[in-house]
Amino acid sequence: MIPDLVVAAGTVVLPGGAVPADVEITGERISGLRAAGGGEGRARLDARGLIVLPGGVDPHVHFLVSFMGQRSVYDFASGGIAALRGGTTTVIDFALPRRGGAMLAGLAHRRRQADPGVTVDYGLHLIVTDVNPASLGELASLRAAGVSSLKVYTTYEEDGLRLDDGALHALMARAAAEGMQIVLHAENDAIIARLRREAVAAGHRAPRFHALTRPPVTEIEAIGRAIAFARDTGCALHILHLAAAGALPLVAAARREGLRVTAETCTHYLALTDEALAGPDGSHFVMSPPLRPAANRDLLWQGLRAGPLTAVTSDEVSYPAAAKTPGAGTFADIANGCPGVEARLPVLYTLGVAAGRIGLERLAQVFATWPAQMFGLGGRKGRIAPGMDADLVVIDPAARRVMTAACHYGPIGYTPFAGMELCGWPVATVARGAVVVREGEFLGAAGRGRFLARGPADACAEDR
Ligand code: URP
Ligand code: ZN
Repeated sequence: MIPDLVVAAGTVVLPGGAVPADVEITGERISGLRAAGGGEGRARLDARGLIVLPGGVDPHVHFLVSFMGQRSVYDFASGGIAALRGGTTTVIDFALPRRGGAMLAGLAHRRRQADPGVTVDYGLHLIVTDVNPASLGELASLRAAGVSSLKVYTTYEEDGLRLDDGALHALMARAAAEGMQIVLHAENDAIIARLRREAVAAGHRAPRFHALTRPPVTEIEAIGRAIAFARDTGCALHILHLAAAGALPLVAAARREGLRVTAETCTHYLALTDEALAGPDGSHFVMSPPLRPAANRDLLWQGLRAGPLTAVTSDEVSYPAAAKTPGAGTFADIANGCPGVEARLPVLYTLGVAAGRIGLERLAQVFATWPAQMFGLGGRKGRIAPGMDADLVVIDPAARRVMTAACHYGPIGYTPFAGMELCGWPVATVARGAVVVREGEFLGAAGRGRFLARGPADACAEDR
């Protein structure tokens, strides 16, 4: 049978390594792999001189979100386009039920917000802020509805998001019984609250106090505590946006012990340091956990190269530049988060592969393969292999471009990666067999993205 599309003669990053090959696509799936240049198809995408990676899986994005009085630029249509332009073909966002409301209702509401216009395949983590017999009783139904991961915050008390230890422990026990995992924003709320109170009372307003009031111990303690709960309950635990390298040995030891514990870091922690917070646009770099010193960044790269980190996510939040300035307020009033879904691949390629820190195979693993496996999508997403969804990104390793705010699809008005000269930009993105982006132009359609019902986490490919 003649394939519908052949992505021809690129360097294809397969699970076993990078080889010159043709990728054959029939319908929405990869139908075959052939020696480079041998394949005939109804359509052809010439990838000579280019690198073909599995379409990215970004399991940590916040589209259509309001927080700290601010609203994101991106919704599920525009955010999905940004993701696809950045070579990411699958995202996992979050559903936040109304406080005291049913979690299933929160999930249904989020799907109503997303489904009509979503442009990228997506799943949802469910944020849990209430633990009680009714909410625990909903877990089995959530699982049946395709949500296998529950997000918990151990901080943001003043924003009504924090779960206390008793609630988290009870939730983990029940989640383990239901085959679900916890994805955790891990910071020690009490220490942060005290340090912030003291800093504000002392008249400190500058963005660098964001990092000074969230020192590494706040992350390390919260991660260690959650691992203790994972050990006790048998619940699978994923650490979101790990920034403090001092927590890496805890994650590594938990994994060696056989606990089902995984951790991601984010693009910005690999690219930036806390010096950015002291610069003229310091407020742009306020996210939690905060940016940390250069030596810490180097240890995160090591954690990516040799373990225990198994994913790099964007933690995309597209608050506009105006929302990222403190105005009359202090560092504590700046909306947390930064955009990154579109920059994840060129930043990782440039600072990782081109700089010799990681190879192409590791790039594919942390960009696509392992995040898919960690969140129950490994059977269809994240790898270039026959039978998998035909999700690919073709990148140009040679083309260099300086990152500016204009590189974003949407009018965000700033980028945390401004001024960085990046290579490895996507030239084409294929999502379920269709070329949905070519040279930055979106060729897909609103509503083409699909909700992905997810099962439990697959074992992560390597024991690391
Ligand atoms: O600063 C961050 N990370 N903002 C996004 C919300 C969260 O904390 O996950
Ligand atoms: Zn978070």
